[in-house]
Amino acid sequence: MIETVPVPLPGREYEIKIGPGVLAEAGPRIAAMTQRKHVAIVSDETVARLHGGALQSVLTEAGLTSDILALPPGEATKCWPELERTVEWLLAQKVERGDVIVALGGGVIGDLAGFAAAILRRGVRFVQIPTSLLAQVDSSVGGKTGINSVAGKNLIGAFHQPSLVLADTALLETLEPRDFLAGYGEVVKYGLLGDAAFFDWLEGEAPKMAAGDVAAQVKAVTRSCQMKADIVERDETEQGDRALLNLGHTFCHALEAATGYSDRLLHGEGVAIGCALAFELSSRLGLCSQEEPSRVRAHLRDMGMKVDLADIDGDLPPAEALLDLMGQDKKVVDGQLRFILARGIGEAFVTSDVPRDAVLRVLEDALKQR
Ligand code: GLY
Repeated sequence: MIETVPVPLPGREYEIKIGPGVLAEAGPRIAAMTQRKHVAIVSDETVARLHGGALQSVLTEAGLTSDILALPPGEATKCWPELERTVEWLLAQKVERGDVIVALGGGVIGDLAGFAAAILRRGVRFVQIPTSLLAQVDSSVGGKTGINSVAGKNLIGAFHQPSLVLADTALLETLEPRDFLAGYGEVVKYGLLGDAAFFDWLEGEAPKMAAGDVAAQVKAVTRSCQMKADIVERDETEQGDRALLNLGHTFCHALEAATGYSDRLLHGEGVAIGCALAFELSSRLGLCSQEEPSRVRAHLRDMGMKVDLADIDGDLPPAEALLDLMGQDKKVVDGQLRFILARGIGEAFVTSDVPRDAVLRVLEDALKQR
């Protein structure tokens, strides 16, 4: 039950291998990529404890020694001091231009280790071994790497494609249910943005996937990665279509900023709420029928996910302040907010032509329901 999704970027082609047990491929695949018999692995303390031993064993079997840098878990690790620590550690590991670094972890580790790989000796190759659902379907694929600034998330970074992605779905078993569901926010996003049949399938099968059905997990991760690979192939540096992957993210980033990037709202939870708001906005602008946002919300509810602003604990700022936080988003072009809206499920498009008042009304009404 192993799937392979190619990412055919000219000169930087790579494969995403998906399925239970693909971690075992790390040994032979990495041994074939480098002359060096030593591998530097960047991870976090939780993931290193759970899966570091298994990775090191398969590397040993392939004749490779390895060391792990285990960073603190959590979004706060995507910062300058941890990046500096990582880069200095990699240099102390004597990583050279021809070597391969491994990122073993969720989105935080993939983004930070990928950025470290992008800048170390002006760029070394890296392998992504994503351990969270969110990382398997989104952040480990497509080459966006970076850290956060006090001014906002992911504002410092580089495009640097991995050389291989090993998405071992068996590792999802160790995720907390809340983290699994947060990752599911990114899965459902793919159906909503460009594949109505996938969304239909998720409505029926996603509960099985959440309950641990391996075939459903492999199918969901594979379809998500295929869609991402296809978009990244068309538009690697987000000049156009890649922005579709940001469905729900303009709302999400404002909510994450308003909740201090804390456990009050995980990124994937914000994406799910943001998708529901993006469909609500699309419907109010007459782009899609009123049934579409209801269907989106009903599915998210069925999955036990956060759907409304009322599902976020604690206070939120007023609608005007949330709108200002949206202005910090990377997707602002010439001061104009760019939104991903939809003409229906599976039919998203990018636009800057959204009346400010319409967004404000959606936020005001969503806040009133709290
Ligand atoms: N997560 C959005 C992108 O990779 O473009």
